[in-house]
Amino acid sequence: MSNAAATSGPFDSIKRIEDEFQVATYKKMPFSVERGQGCWVWTSNGDKYLDLYGGHAVCATGHSHPHVVKAIKAQADRVLFYSNLVYSDIRGRAAEKLVSVAPEPLSKAFFCNSGTEANENAMRMARMATRRHKIVSFSGGFHGRTADSISATFLGKYRKIGEPNVPHHVEAEFGSIESVRTVIDSETAGVIIEPIQSMAGVREASPDFFAALKTRCDQVGAVLIFDEVQTGIGRTGSWFFAGSEPAAGVVPDIVTLAKALGSGIPVGACLVSDRVSSEIKENDLGTTFGGGMIAMAAVLATLEAIEKDGMIENSREVETYLRSELASISNVKGVSGKGCLLGIEFDGAANEVFSKLLQSKIITGTSSVPNVLRLLPPLCVTKDELSLLVEALKG
Ligand SMILES: Cc1ncc(COP(=O)(O)O)c(C=O)c1O
Repeated sequence: MSNAAATSGPFDSIKRIEDEFQVATYKKMPFSVERGQGCWVWTSNGDKYLDLYGGHAVCATGHSHPHVVKAIKAQADRVLFYSNLVYSDIRGRAAEKLVSVAPEPLSKAFFCNSGTEANENAMRMARMATRRHKIVSFSGGFHGRTADSISATFLGKYRKIGEPNVPHHVEAEFGSIESVRTVIDSETAGVIIEPIQSMAGVREASPDFFAALKTRCDQVGAVLIFDEVQTGIGRTGSWFFAGSEPAAGVVPDIVTLAKALGSGIPVGACLVSDRVSSEIKENDLGTTFGGGMIAMAAVLATLEAIEKDGMIENSREVETYLRSELASISNVKGVSGKGCLLGIEFDGAANEVFSKLLQSKIITGTSSVPNVLRLLPPLCVTKDELSLLVEALKG
């Protein structure tokens, strides 16, 4: 991600070992994280960074929130794991809590381990419920890197990486009511959409678009899926984008979740309506690790912490603050997104801004749009912390 010079000291040997023994994934930032608290991380070399990328959009409750840590430790002392082959009190409580914050008619949870896996299962449920094959997804959306999810991803290089793609995936134009009416038809099993397209530069669609999308899916009997891996769990100013004002109140048949759901413990989920869940029978779906006790303790504690600390209200307040501060910065051309998922459009390359901020010890994210920088901070980020970003951008 960054071209900033590597630091010296213990970091050098940490980097050398990881590069030697781990298959390449992302371009890494030039430090190793040793400790985190709230919006801050400390490196092996003793530096302190303000994390406005939230541990890759994961640490919505902040790094190592004490309530989440306590719940995980307590569960670890009881039992680490048993699968869905047995009943578990913590799994039941996590599912009940998640459903209780979800808009109707989402009434049941299916737990898995990641965002891509949640999307795979959502598309499978759509096919099972409709006995059709076709999946419609949108230009610019990102849904993950496993076979079906990457085949539903019409963004940059990803479908190419996923070749050979799964058949019966068709692209519609994000935000276009006309495209929705043309591409979604009576052969369509499911329609999957990232309601705010994060990687595509935090792109939004109009409430009218979401209303027309829902109407069209209902007309042809297609299952509507919101991929809320990034937008869900309070990030965009409400528990979910589903049912919110920017979505015109539209609630899909399935919402998929991951990232923030477990505050960093790997967990994904599908929230499902009765219409779809009633079509799923025993042994249609399965997972060894999904619904494991440690993950469930993390989910329950994450939802409790967000509620108890008023983080959703905070995400709305900090958005208002940041938008007003950014308006006076000359090379900022625009701001998109909601709550703690924001895209800042610059008059110039975002990766240069990213590198400059990293030198000021502030972590942000880039996107597939060269001049858009992304912010995905913990939902507990304060105005004081965000003022450090504003000052760095002015400097
Ligand atoms: C919108 C969206 N969907 C799905 C995924 C895939 O999630 P995971 O990396 O947990 O498989 C991501 C990951 O960035 C995402 O942003």
